[in-house]
Amino acid sequence: YKKVTVKTLSDMKAHGEKISMLTAYDYTMATIVDGAGIDVILVGDSASNVMAGYQTTLPITLDQMIYHASSVVRGVNRALIVVDLPFGSYQSDPKEALRSAIRIMKESGAHSIKVEGGKEIKESIKRILNAGIPVMGHLGLTPQSIYKFGTFTVRAKEEEEARKLIQDALMLEKAGCFAIVLEKIPAKLAKEVAESVSIPVIGIGAGNGVDGQVLVLHDMIGMTKEFHPRFLRRYLNLYDDMTNALSQYVADVKSVDFPNENEQY
Ligand code: KIV
Ligand code: NA
Repeated sequence: YKKVTVKTLSDMKAHGEKISMLTAYDYTMATIVDGAGIDVILVGDSASNVMAGYQTTLPITLDQMIYHASSVVRGVNRALIVVDLPFGSYQSDPKEALRSAIRIMKESGAHSIKVEGGKEIKESIKRILNAGIPVMGHLGLTPQSIYKFGTFTVRAKEEEEARKLIQDALMLEKAGCFAIVLEKIPAKLAKEVAESVSIPVIGIGAGNGVDGQVLVLHDMIGMTKEFHPRFLRRYLNLYDDMTNALSQYVADVKSVDFPNENEQY
């Protein structure tokens, strides 16, 4: 294998090779995701929903993100690992943002961080980049601001919000971010952004005119049951498959089919 770096991703965009990205939150899943050849692994704050069962990404803490990130790092040989700075760990001021980013880098061994937002957090992004830590931006539907939006519907459908999003993307590029995630915005706008910046733009619910795609792992393998947004393609139905397997185990234990002669000492 050849390790994926921020330079690799930039080369991929230059050559028109699409970037594949998925989330992972633990060691075992990370070994599978990395082994499958995924380019970028995101230790997303979606761990708050997927791992901890919260309704939003707001409750997860920096310590918890570091626990997830260090577990993923131990399972990965090739992929570039990006870790979300959680809500409350970077919004108050640039010094706090840098302190949080440094903790993630030192305590988990990950390769980069991601933050949500545009010009509101420009100084924090610059401060983190100045310390030599690669930063990925995230615009559009930014789940840490869900209480400001009030809904998880598509963002930037109106002219004014679309214009601000383009300005923010240009700012992120100029500041030195190595890539940008665009979440749940019109495909036409996402394509325009991808064509306007030289850094890779990775979409989720943002169409195929961008430079790569990201999905939440547990959604795309069908482990999460009640989540069916239009942008999600399910590659497995693990919720049902696991339920069937586990029910079979229950039946086998009850009927003393398990363990059999060969499964004992
Ligand atoms: O936390 C997450 O999973 C994310 C992706 C949806 C981009 O930020
Ligand atoms: Na996230």
